[in-house]
Amino acid sequence: MDDWTTSHDRVLAQRNAEGWMFLIEAARDLRTTGAIAPSSRTLARLLTDPVQEHGARPLNVLEAGAGTGSVTRTLIPRLSPSSRLDIVEANARFASQLRRLVRTHPRLAGESQRVRVHHALVEQLDTGRPYDVIISGLPFTNFTPAQVETIMNRYMELLHPGGTLAYFAYRGTRYARALTSSRAEARRHRAVEEVLAGYQRRYATGRWTVWTNLPPADVWQLRRPNDASAPAAPYILTGAAR
Ligand SMILES: C[S@@+](CC[C@H](N)C(=O)[O-])C[C@H]1O[C@@H](n2cnc3c(N)ncnc32)[C@H](O)[C@@H]1O
Repeated sequence: MDDWTTSHDRVLAQRNAEGWMFLIEAARDLRTTGAIAPSSRTLARLLTDPVQEHGARPLNVLEAGAGTGSVTRTLIPRLSPSSRLDIVEANARFASQLRRLVRTHPRLAGESQRVRVHHALVEQLDTGRPYDVIISGLPFTNFTPAQVETIMNRYMELLHPGGTLAYFAYRGTRYARALTSSRAEARRHRAVEEVLAGYQRRYATGRWTVWTNLPPADVWQLRRPNDASAPAAPYILTGAAR
């Protein structure tokens, strides 16, 4: 067996193990885990595009709700030299898995201190650092509208003026919820979408649909204005990615 085959096999085995870990955590607590499978590579790439768009200067980046690290693994090689990454994850088992990923990631050899994993809720995180890019994997539609308002507001506070927030939302969840849950649940879901729509109207600069994700998802990019008195961000880009 050549080196490529063994390393390819190792990657497949690792993805398989992570898939199972995700499913087990979803069975334990579907509300917080928010999905039954890690994000696809296309979704991870779109979520991490803003890191590259900021160019070669060192950045402060925050990833919230990193799960087993499917987005983190795409993100780390895209960080410019001397950039710093904070990862915040609510689930203790995922946080340990993320620490292992950071310790062993070849791109971080000798400089894994550039990346810190915080086992915490993002709404309680205070690193004292503003961020150029925030990547959020949180399952907003499982939360209360008040929680979503708190978190989105905190994201905007944590961003540098001109900084970018990227997050995703699974498609079709409102209809699935309306069919399978109580009326109160469907109302809560709609109210969460309204909170998010308010932020999208004010700050969105782009939206892309990823069909090759389980389930398909929309990636949103929001930008904190450079100037608090500036008009709302123009909504400029839409598209689909496979
Ligand atoms: C839908 S999964 C996304 C995981 C990963 N980013 C991906 O795309 O495969 C949501 C993740 O957010 C975490 N999470 C949920 N609420 C959180 C919170 N308030 N603060 C930090 N992490 C949270 C969950 O434990 C889970 O790992």
